[in-house]
Amino acid sequence: MAVSIKSKAEIELMREAGRILAITHHELEKQVKPGMSTLDVDRIGEEIIRSYGCIPSFLNYNGYPASICVSINEEVVHGIPNKNRIIQEDDIVSLDAGVIYKGFHSDAARTLIMPEVSDEVKKLVEVTKQSFFEGIKHAVAGNHIADISKGVQKYAESFGYSVVRDLVGHGVGSKLHEEPEVPNFTGLRRGIKLRPGMTIAVEPMINLGDYDVYWEDDDWTVVTEDGLPSAHYENTILITDGEPEILSQAPGIPL
Ligand code: MF3
Ligand code: CO
Repeated sequence: MAVSIKSKAEIELMREAGRILAITHHELEKQVKPGMSTLDVDRIGEEIIRSYGCIPSFLNYNGYPASICVSINEEVVHGIPNKNRIIQEDDIVSLDAGVIYKGFHSDAARTLIMPEVSDEVKKLVEVTKQSFFEGIKHAVAGNHIADISKGVQKYAESFGYSVVRDLVGHGVGSKLHEEPEVPNFTGLRRGIKLRPGMTIAVEPMINLGDYDVYWEDDDWTVVTEDGLPSAHYENTILITDGEPEILSQAPGIPL
């Protein structure tokens, strides 16, 4: 199936979904503290999303049992909230969330730094975020998906980090996951040509050590093989005639 081009009206709905998602992340960033359980984080996030009349995209998606993916340290993505998993002072906490507003999704992730995280791991989180921005510099009409991938990869690897291979970004719209795939690494294919009206989730997952990951027995939680930390940063963006527009943001809230 071809990659969908969103109409003006659809883009407007995705802007609103993205605004609410950015507010949700901002609130979580303020509220998430060591001592809380990852289930507490999920409860708070779900409540904010519903308070705006939105539906959490992830809840029951392929059987995923929560609204917010909470992934700590060596957990890369898709950690399942649990009342017995307590956030520690030296944890990095990746929060991935999606909202549905009037049938349209927005998808975004942030990695939070608890008070006693080492400088080495803080740097990983900062570089992961910046790698998103390095990638989307190339997210312009006429370029290909791989131009974004290359921007992310080059930047992250220049710090000696590695880019996760087993998971990729994706198109997003009336479904959480649409075509095309948006890898954070380059391979044989340059991918589709970008056109105005395409909406994609760009989501670097960057490891301090090697890129190998495995799935835990819960079939969701993705973990680094070497046990070293991993960070995640994601936004939903719109391809335009000029620079890409970040849809998962809100006025007055820093990215
Ligand atoms: N946010 C994830 C992604 O970017 C999706 C989470 S899958 C879910 O693709 F099942 F946890 F919802
Ligand atoms: Co995503």
